[in-house]
Amino acid sequence: MTGKKTFTMIKPNAVKSGHVGSILHTINAAGFCIKGLKMLKMSPALAKKFYAVHKKRDFFPELIDYICSGPIVAVCIEGDNAVESFRNLIGATDPKTAGPETIRAKYGESMQMNAIHGSDSNENAAKEIELIFGKDELF
Ligand code: RTP
Ligand code: MG
Repeated sequence: MTGKKTFTMIKPNAVKSGHVGSILHTINAAGFCIKGLKMLKMSPALAKKFYAVHKKRDFFPELIDYICSGPIVAVCIEGDNAVESFRNLIGATDPKTAGPETIRAKYGESMQMNAIHGSDSNENAAKEIELIFGKDELF
């Protein structure tokens, strides 16, 4: 995984709690470049496409309700080995087990309200960037 681009979104709990500025600062301070930025409220149809990989999981309906519960901030990020190094910056899915300096440890409230998303592969990063920003956007 040596791609330069990844996709993130600051999730509804972190937006509502006023952490957008601090999280974007953390992303820049870690050496990543912000190439695209968009605030939006996901529709259930968009959220179901975004999280299609999880559609058979027990938590899927709750995940869709949660991610549509308020505005999110979508970000296209560039950096060396972006997917893997950004996932290191955000930490484990459950904020309780995420490393102390990670974004999820600082701003996550629970397994579901874990403050931030990070793409898990170069392929999914490209798909997610296209889904949220459109295929004609050249970052
Ligand atoms: P993300 O996709 O948001 O970056 O998170 P992740 O890769 O660390 O975790 P993933 O397995 O892809 O799960 C996606 C999101 O679903 C919620 N989740 N809830 N209740 C549960 O057991 C559970 N498991 C996952 C989390 O919000 C997770 O970020
Ligand atoms: Mg994931």
